[in-house]
Amino acid sequence: MKPYYNRNGITIYCGDCLEVMPRIELGVDAVITDPPYFKIVKMDWDRQWDKIEDYIAWIEKSVIQIKRLLIAKGSLYIFGDDKTIAYIQVMIDQYLTLLNSLIWYKTNSQSIKSTQNFRSYAPITERILFYTPQLCRTGLETVKLNLNNFVPLRNYFRDYQKVIGLSLKTINSKLGHRKADHAFYWNSTQWDLPTKEVYQELGNTFQTNGFLRREYEDLRSEYEDLRSEYEDLRRTFNATSSTFDIITGPIINQSENTDHPTTKPLWLMSHLIQVSTNQGDLILDPFMGSGTTLLAAQNEGRQAVGIEISEEYCGVAVDRLRQPSFFSLPTNGNVKSEPQQIKMDM
Ligand SMILES: C[S@@+](CC[C@H](N)C(=O)[O-])C[C@H]1O[C@@H](n2cnc3c(N)ncnc32)[C@H](O)[C@@H]1O
Repeated sequence: MKPYYNRNGITIYCGDCLEVMPRIELGVDAVITDPPYFKIVKMDWDRQWDKIEDYIAWIEKSVIQIKRLLIAKGSLYIFGDDKTIAYIQVMIDQYLTLLNSLIWYKTNSQSIKSTQNFRSYAPITERILFYTPQLCRTGLETVKLNLNNFVPLRNYFRDYQKVIGLSLKTINSKLGHRKADHAFYWNSTQWDLPTKEVYQELGNTFQTNGFLRREYEDLRSEYEDLRSEYEDLRRTFNATSSTFDIITGPIINQSENTDHPTTKPLWLMSHLIQVSTNQGDLILDPFMGSGTTLLAAQNEGRQAVGIEISEEYCGVAVDRLRQPSFFSLPTNGNVKSEPQQIKMDM
């Protein structure tokens, strides 16, 4: 596929992402995307569907492609409106593991004059669902499920059992409990290092003549060394003491404004990028709009691919990428600024 723009590790495809994604092969570290919200703004692209069901079915098609393009330990951030996000979550839960339902609290939202007429609370937040393709939330289970991990220690306990010369059932019955089970599950995904007490009990209970029985601390330190080696298999998550599930900061200010009606603030995309990716990683945004995700990726030294159906918005994104310093803002994730009227289209 011929890209619309391709420079410094940043690529843009101009087209329908449901047609573009099936035609590209990528191992993406993170997808950060802000699809149309369903009849929130008065733009044709936000009013393509009659019913919420049609909208969710449409988003589902994109999620299937996103899952195909994400690496196993990757991350997905998908933005949504408070009224529709629950439907999106129920649908995506079928494909990926939910990590957080994040709230972006827009710190510079002014009280909306017509709140009284809404007869409901004024919306000053947006939602961001955070998912991974990994089956477990921390990625640790994924490490343990791989029989090629902890092999020297698995082999040690295999040899230990051979020297004891008993089945696991008999070992358990002599010990009077099953606390040594995991140590002797050396050929199973359930293998684990026994506790110090259980290891001592094994030493006191069974003769192991001629077997070089290792000190527990020696086993423990090998276990920790291997575990940190396997950290690479876990999802990137560069947390700080303020990596909370409520993200606070303002909507775009005047200097960030573009011809796109729903441009997201650069600090917000940079924050997500910093938490879930490392330098050089690849990020995908299939509903790129004015290219905020790509600009943040470029500023943070990541690679990125964006897809946008509107040629006009592709042009806006390219202009921003070509003059990044003009749009660069501090990215401390807790930006303070003067209150502004939130853009609303009810
Ligand atoms: C909410 S906006 C994204 C705004 C973006 N986060 C930004 O900061 O500018 C959603 C975008 O999805 C685009 N879009 C809608 N349908 C699309 C499709 N099938 N493929 C690719 N882009 C699409 C719209 O044109 C719109 O620009």
